[in-house]
Amino acid sequence: MDTKLKRDFTKVCTDGWLQGWHERNGGNLSYRMKKEEVEEVKDLLKEDAAWKEIGASVPGLANEYFMVTGSGKYFRNVELDFEDNVAIIRLNEDGTKYQIVYGLVNGGRPTSELPSHLMNLEVLKKRDEGLRVVYHAHPANTVALTFVLPLNEEIFTREIWEMETECPVVFPQGIGIVPWMVPGGREIGEKTAKIMETKNVAIWAHHGMFVCGHDFDETFGLMHTVEKSAEILVKVMSMTDRKRNTITPQDFRDLQEPFHIELDEKFLYEKSSDRIGEK
Ligand code: 13P
Ligand code: ZN
Repeated sequence: MDTKLKRDFTKVCTDGWLQGWHERNGGNLSYRMKKEEVEEVKDLLKEDAAWKEIGASVPGLANEYFMVTGSGKYFRNVELDFEDNVAIIRLNEDGTKYQIVYGLVNGGRPTSELPSHLMNLEVLKKRDEGLRVVYHAHPANTVALTFVLPLNEEIFTREIWEMETECPVVFPQGIGIVPWMVPGGREIGEKTAKIMETKNVAIWAHHGMFVCGHDFDETFGLMHTVEKSAEILVKVMSMTDRKRNTITPQDFRDLQEPFHIELDEKFLYEKSSDRIGEK
């Protein structure tokens, strides 16, 4: 296979690896394919492969095709051997089963986070037909903050936004937080998909982050923006527990008109203290 989709998908895996977000088999990536992208590789697909249970029901994605990373596969290896590490799967007519129609040539199955990916992609398709990419990574600074900030979406969003003026422009809907849960199942998928109904970023406490986007650049860029801001916050908190200067609620409001964004006032509360992480 030699397609633009394969190259774009691979680039995220390599770039994420180079950022240090994918130790061992950490992280996974999925993409809801366009009709013309399926058509382009049609001759390579094995339509008679065995059907397997997804472990979730996603009727909104019935009969669709997805490119997904394999479970236990290393992002580092995707550019070295795409067909060993990545699959194209097709869903059945009620969105409860999948078959591997391409890839994972040495055996294996799609990512253990397939329920989360598909439940997110289903919600996102309803929200905006163009949202096709879901990306999960383990970026260290974002994960570190889940040990010290309250696991509260208002506080998390506000503290991350304050670290870089670009943040509210890049993710004006803010960040959702999933408390620690067992990964890999339907339950954590449901919690994450609930966040994706309105937001593009969900942080899994003590684990990692899920982001979505219209294309691979936008999706990778979103992960990068949140993690960069988290890194600045970790640096600031390493120096002090208080801020001397910061971006104020009014400063954020002033960004709305020139950048054509709308910020929910719940993130723009007046703080009762200058201590980081206090409301
Ligand atoms: P997979 O190797 O099954 O994709 O799992 C990696 C991971 O990050 C689980 O959350
Ligand atoms: Zn993970």
